[in-house]
Amino acid sequence: MNLADLNKVALAMVTPGKGILAADESSGTIKKRFDAIKVESTEENRRDYREMLFRSTEAMSKYVSGVILYDETIWQNAKDGTPLVKLIEQSGAIPGIKVDEGTQALPQCPGELVTVGLDKLAERLKKYYERGARFAKWRAVIDIGSGIPSMTAISVNAHALARYAALCQAAQIVPIVEPEVLMDGDHDIDRCYDVTQRVLNKTFQELRVQRVELEGMVLKPNMAISGKKCAKQASVDEVAEKTVRLLKACVPAAVPGIAFLSGGQSDEEATAHLDAMNRIGGLPWKLTFSYGRALQAAPQKAWSGKAENVAAGQRAFTHRAKMNALASKGEWETGLEKKVA
Ligand code: 13P
Repeated sequence: MNLADLNKVALAMVTPGKGILAADESSGTIKKRFDAIKVESTEENRRDYREMLFRSTEAMSKYVSGVILYDETIWQNAKDGTPLVKLIEQSGAIPGIKVDEGTQALPQCPGELVTVGLDKLAERLKKYYERGARFAKWRAVIDIGSGIPSMTAISVNAHALARYAALCQAAQIVPIVEPEVLMDGDHDIDRCYDVTQRVLNKTFQELRVQRVELEGMVLKPNMAISGKKCAKQASVDEVAEKTVRLLKACVPAAVPGIAFLSGGQSDEEATAHLDAMNRIGGLPWKLTFSYGRALQAAPQKAWSGKAENVAAGQRAFTHRAKMNALASKGEWETGLEKKVA
């Protein structure tokens, strides 16, 4: 492992004014997104859609530091035969790859999940590196509900995240460590805070045990936020203050950067929260975005599967990328949110 090079990539991923496009929806998830815009989820449509994003020259060169791809996408070529990975590289962004293989029910823990995909991971990482991937992603899912999460679920997921991260670094790939506490449910922000604190503490404990070099990774957490169905929704300032406090308590300063998931927040909320955190300032790590839905909902709608809408889709993507890029520097304002065609 060359830690200096891993650190260089990790820092590039969280460059202020840039963030990560999470375009790594599994076939099942992208089908749900396409269903919502009445587009059939064929291999060609998935390719066309992602090609549209990666050819958004302004967004990709100015506001996107890296792109997380799904296995299908990393091997796909654009319509003119250029590998999609090359389009990303040519824009100056770094290609990354989702390497977990989804979740399975956790035995003895009703309603809880464990993320799988460690078998043969070392071999797969080697192939992804050869194809151009310089970072990877593994997502653990922790649900909040009555009596959950159990310590068992937190523990096995943290263990798997650390196993994955160690394998990535051995393959000269920067791991994005993503322990996601879901915002589904009616819990309040303080419950989310407590659960996320347990999850992050356990995750960093496992990372230490398994000798993961913190300078060569990026953390992708949820924010401390009210459950979607909670009657009392925390304000933007409360989310920002509590998330920063939580991260300061749990995330060592050796970690170069934190790139949030959007997790079901509206586009503008995700931007406002990131902006408010960066306005607090004085943080030991960079704070940016690694958004899926909050970057793609608008372009998906604008595109709607029609070739004649590609320019509109790219404008919508560029707008959201720019708003979040400003938020990564604490320079976003709500007045900049004018409608894009
Ligand atoms: P969302 O921003 O839509 O939560 O997706 C980010 C991601 O990569 C989840 O793993």
